[in-house]
Amino acid sequence: MDKQDRQQRIALVPTMGNLHQGHLELVKIAKQHADIVVVSIFVNPTQFGVGEDFDSYPRTLDEDVAKLATVGADYVFAPSVDAMYPVLPPPTTVLAGAISSQLCGQSRPGHFDGVGIVVSKLFNIVQPDVAIFGQKDYQQLAIIKQLVRDLSYSIEIIGAPIIRADDGLALSSRNQYLTESERQVAPILHRELQDLAKQLKGGGISQQAFESLLKDKRTRISDAGFTIDYLEVKTEALGSVVSDSTTFNIENKNIVILVAAWLGRARLLDNQLVVVG
Ligand code: PAF
Repeated sequence: MDKQDRQQRIALVPTMGNLHQGHLELVKIAKQHADIVVVSIFVNPTQFGVGEDFDSYPRTLDEDVAKLATVGADYVFAPSVDAMYPVLPPPTTVLAGAISSQLCGQSRPGHFDGVGIVVSKLFNIVQPDVAIFGQKDYQQLAIIKQLVRDLSYSIEIIGAPIIRADDGLALSSRNQYLTESERQVAPILHRELQDLAKQLKGGGISQQAFESLLKDKRTRISDAGFTIDYLEVKTEALGSVVSDSTTFNIENKNIVILVAAWLGRARLLDNQLVVVG
């Protein structure tokens, strides 16, 4: 049935399974925007690079389905790799474009192209009116908004707030790769982002002061035991923050601080929006 002829709105919550409270919050948001909530669970091979954790990524379908029942998800769509990709790698690609060559795209080449194709396929299969994605994967959310615009999908994309543990660590399926002692250290990432946000909030700092703040943060995060992939400040749309030779001009701008850092086997992602001024 065509979307416009349907009486009920459908929401899609795309996931790779191994669900935690963050995913369940996405379902709760989905329920506020639609009559029927579909959760997809699919560990997507095309978004994993060589040597990444595709094989070991935790697959916990039965537990996931039980958790989804507690928050009232209506359908679980858990296709096989063969069903999703008759040919692997697929000769057709959905390229994420320039936005994907920075940040996570730089250390995970091809990752967002894989996200692009699987999300396009899920949209085509499920035909949702609305889809919910977590803001923890800030760059992914920006790329999906771009994809919806450029491929003319008539789907509302909702970015859901990051869900954190009591100590501030952003919830992620990959947090379970942390050892007990690494888990104690992990919240430092969020604390350092909050601190940097506080310092940037007032705006009007010199370029030199900005660079030294970033350098100091990188040092503190590395000293705590992380291997930093990136720590960057971008505009909300992931553009470069405007600056001239002397002034880091962030007056009247919404900016975002983004970090990816390894702690042991876990690559942790986090970000913090800052309204400057
Ligand atoms: O964010 C994720 O879990 C995945 O990247 C997604 C959007 C489900 C695509 O596989």
